[in-house]
This record gives sequence, structure tokens and C-alpha cells, in this order.
Amino acid sequence: MLSIHPPPRPRPRLWPKLPSPAHPPLPKFSASSSTPNNDINDSTATIKRLVLPSEGRTKLNPSSDRDFYSYPRFVTHVDRGFISSLTDLYRERLRPGSAVLDLMSSWVSHLPEEVEFGRVVGHGLNAQELAGNPRLDSFFVKDLNQDQQLQMESCSFDAVICTVSVQYLQQPEKVFAEAFRVLKPGGVFIVSFSNRMFYEKAISAWRDGTAYSRVQLVVQYFQCIEGFTQPEVVKKSTGSVENSPLDVLMRLLGMSATDPFYAVIAYRNFRPIYETTE
Ligand SMILES: C[S@@+](CC[C@H](N)C(=O)[O-])C[C@H]1O[C@@H](n2cnc3c(N)ncnc32)[C@H](O)[C@@H]1O
Repeated sequence: MLSIHPPPRPRPRLWPKLPSPAHPPLPKFSASSSTPNNDINDSTATIKRLVLPSEGRTKLNPSSDRDFYSYPRFVTHVDRGFISSLTDLYRERLRPGSAVLDLMSSWVSHLPEEVEFGRVVGHGLNAQELAGNPRLDSFFVKDLNQDQQLQMESCSFDAVICTVSVQYLQQPEKVFAEAFRVLKPGGVFIVSFSNRMFYEKAISAWRDGTAYSRVQLVVQYFQCIEGFTQPEVVKKSTGSVENSPLDVLMRLLGMSATDPFYAVIAYRNFRPIYETTE
């Protein structure tokens, strides 16, 4: 935990605004598909293969995630160098007017302040945190390790973002399939992370990995869904802009106190490209 900020004054809102009563039937996850589906508005996403073995999905603390997040944490989880790299990336990739889904969000979004989006929907596990997030037009609470289906229409977002949270997903393939489903063709999914985590709540495949293997894991989460473009990886070792006594001391000792920045980015293809088996 880097710094504690006073919570911003929550804006009045209806909670939860979602689900919309008129959404179409939810998709079934399909583990594989032998028949290519050329309907770009189809509401299913195909998981071509599972990335994680069952032991890779385990957590040291198996208690309910809802309990773990039952009280609000008004903290920032990464340093200002990381956040500024992320905001720059959003500035570059997210168009003004876009509909954005902020998965696994909290009381802060790192979206550029000057950009006006069409709507920003937040998701997380703590309603008080989400209510304090000034960028959200609406939000919903859902434990993605219990149920991965999003109560939202297919092809309804221009962008899905997920910040410093992917390490907590025990069913990442299904969550990435849902991100794909709710994206419009051409829409982007941006997953960013650093090396910080709630250790006891990160899955073992992440916990026991290296920086390199974690990037590869997220790349594979994208690749296991039919119809995402080849994932792009952005890496930066952000220069420290923190000036806390600990940070200054770490620098004097020649140790980096900064949070490295990683992002994996892919787009929903307009038409899926099918892998041949021959
Ligand atoms: C480290 S915080 C990151 C919050 C925010 N994205 C940010 O950048 O500050 C991790 C977030 O993951 C979410 N989370 C953790 N486990 C979850 C689960 N099982 N289902 C849904 N969300 C979860 C929580 O809402 C929590 O706020």
C-alpha cells in the first residue's frame, strides 16, 4: 500500500444500475468449436483451450473473495510512475466518446481526466470503493471467481480495462471470453499489472511465476479466446516519482522502489481468424 487518500465525495447514483432488464440471453461458454461462426455479433465466445491446470488456480487464502474485500481500501495499489504510464496508454488507445468497462475496479480509475467517455461502467467487489470512483457512471459488484458471466449485452463496449487485478482470477479463460463477448468488433481489452499483489489471494500460477512468465500467462489468456488479435506487450520500468523517505532511502541504496509497468493489449477482430489443424 503506497498512500492513503481521503475518499472523494461519492456522487449520488443508483446502485446497482445493472443488469439491464432487457438484455438478451447470456452466452454459453464453449470449450471449443469445430464449426467456424462468421456472425460478428454472435453472443458466444469460444475458449479454444484452458491455459491453467487446476493447481495453478489455487490461492493460499481460499476464503471467499467477497469477505476479503468486504471493507473498503481507499489506497492506491501502484506508484505514480505506473499510473502515469497507464494513463498515457489509455490516452493513446481509448477514443473520446467510447463506452468503457472497468473490470475489477475500485475507488480510482486511471483514465485521463481530460477525455470524455460516452459511459464508464465499473465492476468490483466493494460497493463503497466503487461508489467513490468519480469516473464511473454506474457499477456492479460481482465475484468473478464464483460466476464469470457479465449481465451485459454482447458487443456493447468499445473498451474493457483491467488494472493490477488479473492475478486474482481463478477462471481467467472464462473472464477473457466474457470481455471478448461484450466488446464491439474492433474494441480493445487492456490488461495491466505490476509486481505487487495481495500474495495470499493471487493464484499460484502467478505467485510462483516471474515477471516474464506472468506476461506470458496474460498473453495466453488472450490467445485461448478465438477472435482476439495477436496480443501486444508493453513493458516499462517506470522512473520513480515518489519522494517518500522510504523511496529516497531505497534510491540512495541503489535499489529500485518503483513499480514496473506491464500491459497486454488485444482487439476483438472484425472476423475471427481460425487456426487450421492441418
Ligand atoms: C489491487 S485492486 C485493483 C483495483 C483497481 N483496478 C485499481 O487500479 O486500483 C484489486 C481489485 O480486484 C477486484 N477483485 C479481486 N478479486 C475479485 C473477484 N474474485 N471478483 C471480482 N473482483 C475481484 C477487487 O474489486 C479489487 O478492487
